[in-house]
Formats: sequence, C-alpha cells, structure tokens
Amino acid sequence: MSAPNMDVLVSLAKRRGFIFQSSEIYGGTGSCWDYGPLGVELKQNIKRVWWRDFVQERPDMVGLDASILMHATVWKASGHVDNFTDPMVDCRECKRRFRADQVGDMAWLHFCPATKGNKFTIPAGGPCPHCGATRTLCPECGKGELTAPRQFNLMFKTFMGPVEEDAALTYLRPETAQGIFVNFDNVLQSMRLKLPFGIAQIGKAFRNEITPGNFIFRSREFEQMEIEYFVNPNDRMDGRPADEAIHDTWIEACRAWFVRYGLAADHMKFHEHETAELAHYSKRTVDILYKFPMGWSELMGIANRTDFDLKQHSKFSGKSLTYFDEERKEHIVPFVIEPSAGVDRALLAFLLDAYQEEEVRGEKRVLLRLHRELAPITIAVLPLLKKRPEIVSTAHELRTRLAKRWRTVYDDTAAIGRLYRRQDEVGTPYCVTVDVKTVGDREKGEAGDGKVTIRERDSMEQIRVPLADLDTIFGRLMGETAWSEVAAAYPRAEG
Ligand code: GAP
Repeated sequence: MSAPNMDVLVSLAKRRGFIFQSSEIYGGTGSCWDYGPLGVELKQNIKRVWWRDFVQERPDMVGLDASILMHATVWKASGHVDNFTDPMVDCRECKRRFRADQVGDMAWLHFCPATKGNKFTIPAGGPCPHCGATRTLCPECGKGELTAPRQFNLMFKTFMGPVEEDAALTYLRPETAQGIFVNFDNVLQSMRLKLPFGIAQIGKAFRNEITPGNFIFRSREFEQMEIEYFVNPNDRMDGRPADEAIHDTWIEACRAWFVRYGLAADHMKFHEHETAELAHYSKRTVDILYKFPMGWSELMGIANRTDFDLKQHSKFSGKSLTYFDEERKEHIVPFVIEPSAGVDRALLAFLLDAYQEEEVRGEKRVLLRLHRELAPITIAVLPLLKKRPEIVSTAHELRTRLAKRWRTVYDDTAAIGRLYRRQDEVGTPYCVTVDVKTVGDREKGEAGDGKVTIRERDSMEQIRVPLADLDTIFGRLMGETAWSEVAAAYPRAEG
C-alpha cells in the first residue's frame, strides 16, 4: 500500500527529519528543499547503491564528477540555449505564471454569474455545473486574463568572475549529461576504454521550472544520476543495430533496479515517447512512470541520444570527438544511450512505496518498509531500563562497535514500545535491545547471559542472540541472507 496522499508523507518527512522546506524561517520557498538528518542518509544510500550497482560492479562503466559551471558555449552546442524552453502564460491580475501546456489540466476557480458570483473550484477541464461556463481566465485567482504563450528558457543565468557583463554570462547546468560529453575524449584516452562503455555522474542540476510542485517531485534545484553509455552504431546485436538492442537492455535494467530496492512492479509502467514528444536530440525515449499520488508521472527517462551531442560539441569546439574502430579501421562517432534518473524523485517513490499503516494490538502502527540498504538507520540500540548503568554502558559500547560498519543509533528517550514505534516510522530494519538478563544483577548475585534481543521491523519477530554473534548476523542480514533464515538459528524472544 502506498501513502494515501502526499500530505501524509510531507508531514512525516518534516516531523521525523527527512525533508524540510528551504529557508522555512523566512516563509520558505516551495521550489527548493533541504534534506534533514534522516533524509540525507536516505539520499546518500540511494546514490551509494546506484553507484555501486551501475558503476563499481560493472567492467564497462567508469565515473565522473564534472563542475556545475561550464563554458557558456556548451549550452549553445547542446541546444539548451535555443530549445530548453517551456511555453508560459501570465495572469494579468495576480501575476501568477503557468505552463501553457498544463493550464488546462488544473482545477480552476470560478465566480459563477448564475449563483450571484459565488466562488467554486471546478475540476480540471470541466464546465461549471451551474452556468456551464468553461475556463478562460486565470485558474488560481479566477479573475485575471491570461497572456498569449511566450517561450521561457529554464536555465538559471549567472556571471563568472567579478564583472556582470554578457561576456561573463554562463548557466547553472540543467542536466549533468553535458559534463560527460565534453569529457568524452579525456575519459576515453586516460582509461583506454573500448566500446561499448559508459560514463556515470551524480550531481546537482538546476531548472527555473515555471510550475515546481508536488513536494520534491519537481523543484528548481535537484540531483540527477545519469549514465551516458557509448555504443558503436555499426555493431549489431541480436540482429539489430547495437544502440537499439542496448537501449532495451538499459530500460529493463533500470526497471529491475527500482524493483530490487522496493518499488512494487505494478506501481511502475513504461511510457514510449511519441515522435512529437521526443527531445531535439532523441531517436527514441522511454520513460519509467511511477504511480505518484498525483497520478502516473515520470520517475526517470532512458533516451537514445544518437551521436547528436558528440557531433555538436565537436562542431562548436573544433575538437574531434571520435572513437577509432580497430576492426573496421575507421573513426566513428558513438551513439549514446542515456538512463537519466532524478535522485529526489527516486527518493520520493521509495518513501511512498515503503509507507504503510497497520493495526497492531488495537493501535495504529506506521512503518516505512524501506529496503535495508536504503534505510537511513540500519540498527537502533535500545536499553530496556535507562536507570541501570550496566545496561546503558553495554548499549553505548554496542552502538560504538556496530557503528563502524552500519549506521547505528542509541535511543533511551522513551519506553521500549514507543522506541520501537519510532524506529518503525523511519524505516529502521533492526532494533537491538539490551536488558537486565544481558548484564545480570550484581546485587542479587546473578550473572548476565551476554545475550540481546534483535527485533525485525516488518515481522516484529524477536530473537535472542549472543552479543558476540551480532557482527556476523548483521553481516549476513545486510548481505543476501533473509531474516527468516538467520532467525531460524536462534530462539524466539518474548514480544
Ligand atoms: N539528461 C537528460 C535529462 O535531463 P530529463 O527527463 O529532463 O532528462 C531526467 O531529466 C530526470 O531528472 C527526470 O526523469 C527526473 O527524475 C529528474 N528531474 C528532471 N527535472 C526535475 C525537477 N525539476 N525536479 C526534480 N527532478 C527532476
């Protein structure tokens, strides 16, 4: 079950330190977001597993970290100066700005003449049920006329150096991809790569979106995880041009990656771009859509960018950006397959899919069933009684020990039941409880058994294990071993 609506998630994200509105104490900005203590861990984990799975574990991939500010001509060559525009319309009354192609999809405010000017919100596209009018004015204020559509470039302009003059004008990058294209030859030569190979990059991108919104789904500053996978278009695979066959391989690899880290397969679907919808550089683009609360929307795109970018940069820079095909003894310009994902959108989808509400012994339990490798906290060490110094010190020592390998926290700010609920709500897969039996009771002359309780988040099952086994147990759990297999080797503890 996904979160019932975005508001529930926004509220959880703020309350539990995942995501805050940027500059909130100044009234905030709806278009930028700050990741709090748990959000930053979740985001790092998403980037870490993506980099590991798509870069470090593959023999045909390398990474890059290019600068955000680039030579202004990059954006001329890439087509962004001329083509990276959205048509927008302005309200002459309230001055709000809308994307011309989206204004018809919005619910609209209407002062109905048939009901003495009463105010109604009419669903998108619909006529007023009282007077039959359709929307012609501003959908937000219901009063102002809209201007004719004008093209608006989405790139943020800035100036490099101390003088704000046209010669110093450049842009904040609107995609990380171009940093890869302009470094194609540097990477090729320094790493002695053979086609097909890919270059990956994770980093910030900036777009002056006309209508940012839906929480972190569309913001003006966001992060991308992009791969440019270079292919020899003269090669053939499975009886097809290699770029077309490899494009299909990447589409499936991306879908499978999201499933592996927790998205339900039926919450995703593909969207094949129509010819008219294709970006200026693309031969074919397939988006992976996710069932967000506002409807099916783009999670990521996988495009066949052909040789467009390398040829453009070669033309504008005067440098040859080719690859020498040893077999055919010819210089070619590789084609590029580009899987491009937004970190923030991936994070939003993982949170939505993980959110679950259930009833346990008559009480509501909220939990995030986050994949163990994504969860911001892997292990919470909890003392059953914080008045007992031996319990507290054992728990602190344990946290220090486990924190060397996994994100581990100590918490003693509430009774155990409440502590478990708090960890469930932020997706912590394992809690370890130190209790009286662990340390014994010196006054009564009772020795401790040196065992602790591990509680698993989803099943709420508890097992009793020796302290000495914890590193091995968590090593297995964080690897491929299922909880049920690990738990089968230990006695159950009382819930
Ligand atoms: N290099 C290709 C490219 O940038 P895109 O479809 O414009 O393609 C790729 O962006 C991905 O980046 C999107 O699928 C989305 O996940 C993310 N993205 C794009 N604009 C965004 C925004 N304003 N806010 C958050 N994420 C965004």
